[in-house]
This record gives sequence, structure tokens and C-alpha cells, in this order.
Amino acid sequence: MAEKQGLPEGPGALVLGIETSCDETAASVVRDGREILSNVIASQVDLHRLFGGVVPEIASRKHIELIMPVIDLALKKADTKPEALSAIAVTYGPGLVGALLVGLSAAKAMALALDCPLVGINHIEGHIYANVLQYPEVEPPLICLTVSGGHTDLLYIDEYGHYEILGRTRDDAAGEAFDKIARVMGLDYPGGPEIARMAVDGDPKAIDFPRGLMQADTYDFSFSGLKTAAINHIHTLEQRGEELPVADIAASLQAAIVDVLTNKTIAAAKAYGAKTVFLSGGVAANEGLRTQLDLLATAQGMRVYYPSPVLCTDNAAMIACAGYYRYRRGERSPWDLNAVPNLRLGET
Ligand code: KG4
Ligand code: ZN
Repeated sequence: MAEKQGLPEGPGALVLGIETSCDETAASVVRDGREILSNVIASQVDLHRLFGGVVPEIASRKHIELIMPVIDLALKKADTKPEALSAIAVTYGPGLVGALLVGLSAAKAMALALDCPLVGINHIEGHIYANVLQYPEVEPPLICLTVSGGHTDLLYIDEYGHYEILGRTRDDAAGEAFDKIARVMGLDYPGGPEIARMAVDGDPKAIDFPRGLMQADTYDFSFSGLKTAAINHIHTLEQRGEELPVADIAASLQAAIVDVLTNKTIAAAKAYGAKTVFLSGGVAANEGLRTQLDLLATAQGMRVYYPSPVLCTDNAAMIACAGYYRYRRGERSPWDLNAVPNLRLGET
């Protein structure tokens, strides 16, 4: 059995979290898995925006430049000496291999030099723990929808640290669909927040975009049909020389994605008798998704939890929190821990 969450064994277990799986160089110090002492995020997004998406080689180089200053700043802001750390938690997958290796090398070097326990964390588990960090009193069983640029996973969690994957995307992740369609619409990277912004002024019923696998007897997702339909729609209007109704496209697209995500999540919660639903990952910052999931869940007597926006997108506080609970369970990673770009939840 997992330990009860949120009951620290003693005061002041300080965990340094390090996250470099994609295009944010992040470090954070969290006390007892619940109190964020610092949360430093150096975003490379302005750099990658010039190319319309993340360029792995550039990401790795930028991480190398930023990793030690970001860690130093996180320790400084937390007013913490490296010797005071109880553990160092680091993302070792999934993600871009060159990017992961930078955080992992820094974490290993520090842990070795300080004789401090090293705890490798799955990035997706980190996203789930963004909720545990904010709501340590909430206990499983629960259903968790993790939606990011790289992942769309629907999970049943009967105890923390134990994940049953009910469904995942068969093609594009939800965030990826947002980003790719936004790019065709001429919007900046990352497209999710841009589409969310434009959608506010649009009609979600203006265009009837497909809701992939919504009626199918599966908890899997598929967004490639939606992506093709949206891109075709945009190209047709452009070929006719018509002005793009950007707000309506954004609102209709967001509605299609939100409908599928919320529908399947509530269906899973009903089927598993879960009264608690976690929403996590970068796309969980989407206001439309939060609102619709809240509405549907409340109607079923369920309660939805989602992290504040800064903890939805990539950050190291969530990694420190996940690391704290693994550290408390006595888990330690070996010194030869390697980056695993395709790491899946539940795998080590
Ligand atoms: O979790 P995250 O920061 O990185 C990955 O692990 O992938 O998620 C980034 C994704 C991007 O696809 C971005 O477009 C999306 O989250 N995103 C949003 C919003 N904010 C970020 N999508 C929709 N609405 C938002 N407000
Ligand atoms: Zn992420």
C-alpha cells in the first residue's frame, strides 16, 4: 500500500526538482511535497517560436547554458544551501533525449557530489503530482486526464504511484493538435494558448468539426481526423480567397477537443465509480476545458481538481513533489540512470 499522501514524516524535507524534458529549463525547491519555496522556469519558447515549434538541437544547447544558473537561482530564492537538500528529483523521460540528458547529468553530478539521494521521475507522473502538490489532502481513487503537447492519457489511480492506463491517443496529442492547427492558421507557437485566446470571441457551433472516437467503445483518443478536417477547412477558405473567421475556427476547434476529452473522462469516472477527477498537463490550463469538465462532473456529483496555470505547463515543482513521495517510499535511482525518451507510465 502507498503511504497516505500529505502527512510528512518530519518537518523540512527539502527536495530539489529539475525538469528539462522539452523547452523549459526548470528547477524548484519544495518542502514536504506541498510548500513551493521556489519555482524557476526559464522558457525557451521565444526562441522556438521563430521556427514554429521546438527544435531539439537548439533546446539541448539552451538547456546546457541555462541549467546551472536556473538551479542556483532556485536554491537562492528558496534560501536553501545544497547541503540541506533531502533528495534531488529529476525528469528522466519521456521527452527529447538531448534535453533530458542535460537535466539528468546536472542532477546526477549534484547528487553524487552532495551524497544526496537521486530520484528519477516520469514527466507524466510529474504532471499528475502538480495536483497532489496543490491538493495534498485529496486521496484516490480517482480518474486523471493528462493532456499535454506530447501526451493524452486517461488513467485510473487507485493509489498514488499506481496507474492503470485506460486510454491514450492513437495519433496526435491534444496539445499537438492545437499547435499544428494553430500553425496553419498563422498563429504563434505554442498554439494552444493562442487558440484559447481567439476562441473567446468565436462561436463554438460555427463549424461542426469531427469528434474522433467520441461514440466508440474505447477510452482511446484520436485527433488526426480533426486536424485534417480543420486544415482542409482553412485551405478551402484560403483557395476561395475568403478571410479566415479565426475566432469561429478557434472556438469550434476548441469545442471539438474539449467535447471528446470531457466526455471520455466523465464516462471513465462513472464506470470506475470515482468521485474525484484530476486534470493535468499543459492543456489543463485551457479555461474552456476546465469549465466544461467542472460542469459535467458537478452534474454527476464528482469533483474536479486542476492545478493553477503555472503548474499545468512544464515546471520543476511538480517533479520535486513527485520526487518527495517516491523518496519517502524509500525509492532511490541508480547512478547509471539514463534518459528514456519514450518512457511510459508505470515503466522504470
Ligand atoms: O505540459 P506542457 O507544458 O508540455 C508537454 O509536456 O508537452 O504542454 C504544452 C502544451 C502545448 O501543446 C500547448 O499548446 C498546450 O500545452 N497549452 C494549451 C494551453 N496552454 C498550453 N492548450 C490549450 N489551451 C491552453 N490555455
Ligand atoms: Zn509536460
